[in-house]
Amino acid sequence: MRMCSRTTIYRIVFIALVIFISIVIGFQYGIYLSVRTTTNKSLLSVLLQSQPKSPGKSSVLPQPQMPKNNAKPRKICEKYEVSDTRPFFDQEPPQTNLPRRMSAIERTLILPQLRLLRLAIVACAYNVEQYVDNLRKHIEPILDLFHSSSRIFILESDSTDNTWEKLRQWSRAHVETYGILANTVPKRTERIAYCRNKLLDKARDIHPDYMLVVDADIFSVNISSFLTNFQYETQDWSVMTANLIEKYYDIWALRTLSETIVNYDVWHLSWAMQQISGYCANSVSRNVIDIHKQPLRANRNLLEVRSAFGGAAIYKMNATKDCFYSGKPYTCEHVLFHLCMRDKNQARIFINPQFRNDNLR
Ligand SMILES: *[C@@H]1O[C@H](CO)[C@@H](O)[C@H](O)[C@H]1NC(C)=O
Ligand SMILES: *[C@@H]1O[C@H](CO)[C@@H](O)[C@H](O)[C@H]1NC(C)=O
Repeated sequence: MRMCSRTTIYRIVFIALVIFISIVIGFQYGIYLSVRTTTNKSLLSVLLQSQPKSPGKSSVLPQPQMPKNNAKPRKICEKYEVSDTRPFFDQEPPQTNLPRRMSAIERTLILPQLRLLRLAIVACAYNVEQYVDNLRKHIEPILDLFHSSSRIFILESDSTDNTWEKLRQWSRAHVETYGILANTVPKRTERIAYCRNKLLDKARDIHPDYMLVVDADIFSVNISSFLTNFQYETQDWSVMTANLIEKYYDIWALRTLSETIVNYDVWHLSWAMQQISGYCANSVSRNVIDIHKQPLRANRNLLEVRSAFGGAAIYKMNATKDCFYSGKPYTCEHVLFHLCMRDKNQARIFINPQFRNDNLR
């Protein structure tokens, strides 16, 4: 053993200082880089690195579910700010070439024409016992607008309440149960996609002109709201999706026509921004999700989108040709169905602000 000389001590102190400073600078630079990657246009690049857990239990109102184990807690977080805090429908540039409105005379022909067309109404049912009466009250009058060969198909699975017993008493609905599907299809998003695909097959079997897809726990569209879809030239649209006027809430199913507004999965993005880029959770949920959940007034124009849902959507059946739902990879099942329809069948998908799904229960 030998004693440290003074110079050795100075040297050690100096080296330690250099290492410490490099670490501090390196860390700051790392944050700077991740801030840059998320604030520039390619927010999606962050998503590609992420592998979040299933984003929610309900297709209707998915709640963000952050993985607990595979992410280290962050000590410091950056506040995420956006320069434009308007909701997507205000950010979207004005759209031309929207579906034409029918003349007053043409509109008098809507009801007689619908009587000649076949409608398939489809819904998945999971723990919706308390909503079945409301669903029935709103669905049957719509069914009665169409040809008598129109049908309601409902598939139940995994309920722990009396949903199935309740549905069986609904004489006009063709109901079926899969029992416990969770054993064979464990992921919720895949289960919903599975159910919706089965319903799609059932609908296709009756060769309908239109298909109305609804979420059993919120569907509250009355006839006048429903008929607003048919005040537009039907050759100008393929899909009309609903609006909840109190707050446009279904951001998970949304993909705007504009590349840069909401053309990504909001739950994946907010997960990645917190876990990878280190932004503070509350600033992310406010600026990535909540800014878009604003009232979409009924007197606004149709808004063309790549995807939307809102608890109800009416599809021209031939626009769905060769397309299916997919719950992979943890994406809202409506999105891939809609993107396929646009791609293969040149489908045009709209949010119809008057197609209101927000009547009082
Ligand atoms: C769907 O049917 C309409 C007529 O009802 C037709 O004009 C349109 O081209 C069809 N679209 C597809 C994708 O087959
Ligand atoms: C239908 O719903 C709309 C919007 O929620 C509402 O303004 C209208 O009064 C309702 N019409 C009827 C006949 O209940």
